[in-house]
Amino acid sequence: MAFSGAYGIDLGSSNIKIFTKGNDSIFCEKNMIAIQNKNELFAYGDDAFEMYEKAPGNISITYPLSSGVIADIKNMQMLVRNFITDLNNGTIKAADYYIAVPTDVTEVEKRAFYDLIKKSNVKAKKVMVVEKAIADGLGLDIDVKNSQGVLVVDVGYETTEISILSLGGIVVSKLIKVGGKKFDESIREAIRREYNLLIGAKTAEQVKMSIGELVASGEDCIVYGRDIVTGLPVERGIPTNLALSCMQEDFNSIIDYVKIILERTPPELAADVYRKGLYLTGGASQVHSFAELLSNGTGLKVNKATRPIESVALGIGRIIQDDNYKSVAYSIEGINGGN
Ligand SMILES: Nc1ncnc2c1ncn2[C@@H]1O[C@H](COP(=O)(O)OP(=O)(O)OP(=O)(O)O)[C@@H](O)[C@H]1O
Ligand SMILES: [Mg+2]
Repeated sequence: MAFSGAYGIDLGSSNIKIFTKGNDSIFCEKNMIAIQNKNELFAYGDDAFEMYEKAPGNISITYPLSSGVIADIKNMQMLVRNFITDLNNGTIKAADYYIAVPTDVTEVEKRAFYDLIKKSNVKAKKVMVVEKAIADGLGLDIDVKNSQGVLVVDVGYETTEISILSLGGIVVSKLIKVGGKKFDESIREAIRREYNLLIGAKTAEQVKMSIGELVASGEDCIVYGRDIVTGLPVERGIPTNLALSCMQEDFNSIIDYVKIILERTPPELAADVYRKGLYLTGGASQVHSFAELLSNGTGLKVNKATRPIESVALGIGRIIQDDNYKSVAYSIEGINGGN
């Protein structure tokens, strides 16, 4: 029997998620690569992330994706090839590929996702493209083909994508450069400003993710960093409230954009959105209090994803599994995206 493998890929600015047909599982690792002496692969994925901010100068650790689009094609190809090889226990078999793309980018940037798979030497039989917001909708268990006026807000690492879907297509979509990374930076900046303390990006991320627990227990958050004045490493308690309040501006910029999208939505669809409420997903959408603030700011009920990091990959999985949804994926073969 011919092997009819298929993969669904969601390349995120922080995490790469790959759905594998057959075992129907989702693989998730950091979309990161460590290169030694300018051209030797040293580590990739979670292993590269582990070394981040700790590696010596001859090892450069980077994300090949920037603000949702491919910035470093060569390293992105190397990552895709390595991950697919690992998922296949060391060999690569011919398979179909479904890749999610953001909507609010140029045709050239979209085509780069298609070319990436074609040129990664992963024996792609067929490469199909799916708009991320559509995949998100399917991953959130919405029957996107028959639903009208669905508002999806995906808060990722470097981006937030705000989209209105209707009848299997996208009515409006806006990609803004605010997400979990910006939240971490606001926390770092506030701790530096208020306590003369420099903390690393991973520490800031941990603070962000622990706010909910700390608020519940009434504890301060304990951070390790370097005192700017003495230059020495120190441990300090930081009021949880500072970590939360310093992200308000970032939260507001997302909420303001959601309102702008609502203003641009045709009235009939806006009525549907109002009835259903909005759908919130993406890893950083889990940050403490954001869902409530978004609900208050827009006057809409907020439906939260149960698996926010994976919802795009889950949606691509549904397209791969269910022929009824194949029509939302398309091919861009033959389209000249170069001009
Ligand atoms: N429990 C949590 N609370 C708050 N933030 C979280 C939590 N879990 C993960 N995150 C954040 O989610 C972000 C990663 O989410 P996700 O994987 O959806 O992004 P991405 O798809 O890689 O990025 P993008 O969509 O912008 O390209 C990180 O900033 C991470 O810190
Ligand atoms: Mg994402």
